[in-house]
Amino acid sequence: MVEKIKNSSWNFIGKSGEFTLENPHKTSGLYFPLANENGMMSSITPLLAGDIKINQNAFLMEPVSVRSLNFPANSRNFWLYIDKDVAWSAAGNSSDQMSLSFKEQSEESVQLHAGFLWQKVIRENTKLGVRSEITNFVPVSKHNVELMKITITNTNSENLRFTPTAAVPIYGRSADNIRDHRHVTSLLQRIYTDEYGVRVTPTLTFDERGHRINTISYTVQAVEGDGITPEGFFPVEEDFIGEGGSLQYPEAVIKNLTNYCKEGEEIDGYDAMGAIRFKECELKPGESSSYIVIMGIRENNSDSEEFIKSYGSVAKFESELDNNKEYWERKLYNLNFSSSNEAFDSWMKWVELQPIMRRIYGCSFLPHHDYGRGGRGWRDLWQDCLALLLLEPAPVRELLYNNFIGVRFDGSNATIIGTKPGEFIADRNNISRTWMDHGAWPFVTTKLYLDLSGELEFLLVEQEYFKDKQCFRSKAVDHEWNDSYGNKQKDHSGKIYKGSILEHILIQHLTAFYNVGMHNNMRLEGADWNDAFDMADEKGESVAFTALYGSNLLELSELLLKLKDKLEIESVEIAKEMSILIDTIYDSIDYNSVDEKNNLLRKYFELCTHDVSGEKIKIDIDKLSFDIKKKAEWIMDHIKAKELIKNSEGFEWFNGYYDNDGKALEGDFETGTRMTLTGQVFPIMGGVADKELIEKVIKSVNRYLKDPKVGGIRLNTDFKEVKLNMGRGFGFAYGHKENGAMFSHMTIMYINALYKRGFAKEGFEILDMIYNHCNDFEKSRILPGIPEYISERGRGMYNYLTGSASWLLLTMLNEVYGVKGFLGDLMLEPKLVKAQFDGNSTASAFTIFDGRKINVEYKNESQLEYGEYRIGAVTLNGENLELKLNDGSFILDKNIIDKLLINEEHKIVVYLVGINS
Ligand code: G1P
Repeated sequence: MVEKIKNSSWNFIGKSGEFTLENPHKTSGLYFPLANENGMMSSITPLLAGDIKINQNAFLMEPVSVRSLNFPANSRNFWLYIDKDVAWSAAGNSSDQMSLSFKEQSEESVQLHAGFLWQKVIRENTKLGVRSEITNFVPVSKHNVELMKITITNTNSENLRFTPTAAVPIYGRSADNIRDHRHVTSLLQRIYTDEYGVRVTPTLTFDERGHRINTISYTVQAVEGDGITPEGFFPVEEDFIGEGGSLQYPEAVIKNLTNYCKEGEEIDGYDAMGAIRFKECELKPGESSSYIVIMGIRENNSDSEEFIKSYGSVAKFESELDNNKEYWERKLYNLNFSSSNEAFDSWMKWVELQPIMRRIYGCSFLPHHDYGRGGRGWRDLWQDCLALLLLEPAPVRELLYNNFIGVRFDGSNATIIGTKPGEFIADRNNISRTWMDHGAWPFVTTKLYLDLSGELEFLLVEQEYFKDKQCFRSKAVDHEWNDSYGNKQKDHSGKIYKGSILEHILIQHLTAFYNVGMHNNMRLEGADWNDAFDMADEKGESVAFTALYGSNLLELSELLLKLKDKLEIESVEIAKEMSILIDTIYDSIDYNSVDEKNNLLRKYFELCTHDVSGEKIKIDIDKLSFDIKKKAEWIMDHIKAKELIKNSEGFEWFNGYYDNDGKALEGDFETGTRMTLTGQVFPIMGGVADKELIEKVIKSVNRYLKDPKVGGIRLNTDFKEVKLNMGRGFGFAYGHKENGAMFSHMTIMYINALYKRGFAKEGFEILDMIYNHCNDFEKSRILPGIPEYISERGRGMYNYLTGSASWLLLTMLNEVYGVKGFLGDLMLEPKLVKAQFDGNSTASAFTIFDGRKINVEYKNESQLEYGEYRIGAVTLNGENLELKLNDGSFILDKNIIDKLLINEEHKIVVYLVGINS
């Protein structure tokens, strides 16, 4: 392998996540998100490459993929023509400057400085005696704009004279047009110049929606200092670069051309350029001049001066930047960790940002995520809510409630998710997919909500169901359904049917229980969490997710009893059709019989293929709870009895899957040992494995999947086969993405499972490994945060938009710090290891609980290791609390929390003492 250029790591400044990185341009593929809640989404690199868009069909700058970041010509740029031999890009993006990258010693130094949610690149050229500071951010306003301030400073002892030109190529169309009518769509461009810049308003849009009148304008405007207008514009790309020129060597700059347009021009039918020429500037030694560039996307061709009025001066820029910093700081205020490792705590602040980024960007619109069209998946919808419950708790109840509309009566769900809350769209394909894990996540998230809020009544609130032509979990089509029926399940009288949230959850779990393959585990269907296990629809089974459904059922059976006690009710109402699913009450079947299970499920599907009756039955809660518990226990026993592997080396672990030939996926094979991490996570997390078995599984994981080279635990071993009877993932090169990378999401869920079952030291060791790997910039080559996966070469991939961030936050707060809800009460069960306590023997977590600001401080004055301490005393705002322990955990009653003032911070100090003291 070619030796990589050495680079130092990021350094945090203070505790607010701000960091610097030297020579950022010497690493490929680094990018940073700039966004606002209004839907403006940018990506930006240290060379100012990246793109700017509001959705799939409206890109101001040309869409990028991570590879195109290596060819950054199409970037934001700012040029200084210094004299006839020197045109210098303040962004470092010229042919000459690019060639400096490989030099160990160069006349140009570069530093990246970034925070929430802004980026500054400082570049200094000692030979020319010039320094540029370029700051970019997206203001937290109602506008779709990205702002850029360029400050040029004369670092020489003589005067510096230059002619500045801002240069942003304007793509101005749909991402689809990258290949589909790339040139023809430039004929649609109508380019205008005004006092401050260039506007492009295409006449039509050509994309998947057809040919339509366009209503969107793309603008690049700029001012000097406090609002001085530019000299003129080069609004057509081919004129700006000149014959034989390029965006990294543009003729208009190199020759300092003056044939620019003035305001009021219209040019039709070319690729546009936001090139803006300012008057020549002369700076004395030490003097600076600043320029503001405003890149905007607007609906309707309205007043283009509005952006200038809002942002068109250095002072306005600075005040918006302050607003921006304050806004994101406030957003990230709700969760904070403090430990012996300050850098880790700062890194966690970036992890906190990630779920919010995924809410804004979905699974698309950052350079690695070049597949999505903007939509989010069902799984992501629920998993992201986990973190949002910690970060932005107020609106989440509504979000959860709305999401349940997506559930179908057969237990599957809509997979095309609209942009508005609760908007689900019919999948018009005849061959639709059901992901078998989808039904399990809503309960996981709802349970977290119930634990935090104590609002058990939520389970009884009624909600609609989704309906389209898919039925029998996508195995059949309801021919009676058509568009006029609409997307809501109706009853026989034509009324939209509603059932409780509990009913939705029951349908999801009970249908899954009966939907088993030949080995009596739940069928894999279209795939499970591992989207790339997508070719075993006939005989595939997911033991891994059977375990998750099993532990959900167990928790649900307990929750039902709590519901009965708390609300003092004896029964709940469910749809009449569902009665057969609760077989122990109505007509018991043999759970060991795959046929009996499948037949029962078929009968249920037949009852709800088109309309449902609308009739409800009352069901005794004790009996329902018993039924569910019986199913859960059957699953646990079955997995333990049938799915344990013991291989020739004497290692034991769970088989996680069956392939499309009905063969177990894991164990000893001619090509070597086959093992998946997913197969181990859920049996550990959900209690299938007891402590002794967990120890054995950990040993096997360490033997076959642990790999320091990729900073953690791999998703699977190398199967050395393109396993077409399992899924496309096996077509990926080994060590990448879903084929054996260190896939953060599953590894973090593994860590979570270990902590949950009391294996804190083992969990911490892996957590520490992942963090140290990310923090080792030489290896990871990423900005702070957790990437989706670590590649075979150790590089962090698919940054920012990953479900692992939600799980990491949850794991840190609920497991590592052990601060969690327990049906409305606050429960404290620390699992911190000795190394996490700081010099004052303290580790603390700040969170919002029940709307109150709570700071939990653990004091480990005797410096005890996890396993050696217990909770000895607890104070709340300095007052001793009665030491109410439940299995070692301290419980603070909801009644006490409810009395705490909302706007003040409340301090809980937990004193840890020796386990036997
Ligand atoms: C991504 C997807 C997620 C899927 C996973 C494995 O993971 O977003 O839905 O389960 O791949 O195929 P992420 O990194 O977002 O957790």
